[in-house]
Amino acid sequence: MRPLIAPSLLSADFARLGDEAAAVAGAPGEGADWLHVDVMDAHFVPNLTLGLPVVEALLKATAIPLDCHLMIDDPDRWAIGYAEAGAYNVTVHVEAARDPVALAADLRAAGARAGLSVKPGTPLEPHLETLRHYDTLLVMSVEPGFGGQSFIPDVLEKVRTARRLVDTGHLTVLVEIDGGINAETIEAAAEAGVDCFVAGSAVYGADDPGRAVRALRDQVRAVTPGRAWSA
Ligand code: DX5
Ligand code: ZN
Repeated sequence: MRPLIAPSLLSADFARLGDEAAAVAGAPGEGADWLHVDVMDAHFVPNLTLGLPVVEALLKATAIPLDCHLMIDDPDRWAIGYAEAGAYNVTVHVEAARDPVALAADLRAAGARAGLSVKPGTPLEPHLETLRHYDTLLVMSVEPGFGGQSFIPDVLEKVRTARRLVDTGHLTVLVEIDGGINAETIEAAAEAGVDCFVAGSAVYGADDPGRAVRALRDQVRAVTPGRAWSA
């Protein structure tokens, strides 16, 4: 078992998404674990990216499990389509979901893992009961909407809380972090207890995206000796 690295296609060339997925596939055991796909609707966040038809095309183009991060209003209505299409993990925002418990059950019934995301300013405590119904907790370490922003270290307190709850058996989520993860920030995130690291510009801005994935994973391993990776 190992630390999971999830390159974000937001920083890839949108005209060549299949090739960009292949660029991080790597040799067995070395490549990207998940491919992070940022869906934005210009309502929940100011930016607009891509939606279900592109995700369906990607599912045909790559064998890497897709990690769909839905930064959209009304995920109660739209998220299920991504699960039914075959996304591996479908993450919705707690700030946008009306009935996140029912939504998680629907996502799981459709065969996906269910993820719940919190923006940097959203506390964890009010949502701990809800999180019992989820498989993944996505802690945003930038304001959602754009790649290439600076990491907000304050959110690591939420990572530490979640890690503690998981390690003591009170929660079973995988802890994922998204935003500003690069060679300078990934070690602090790893030490705080992250399981899965999303990286957009740090991977697709590199000359060799596949090598960037391996280097990030090696950095995590180096600062977490003896950690039993559950993923
Ligand atoms: C931001 C997205 C992130 C983004 C991260 O709203 O959710 O997934 O791609 O990009 P970097 O790694 O460049 O901060
Ligand atoms: Zn994201």
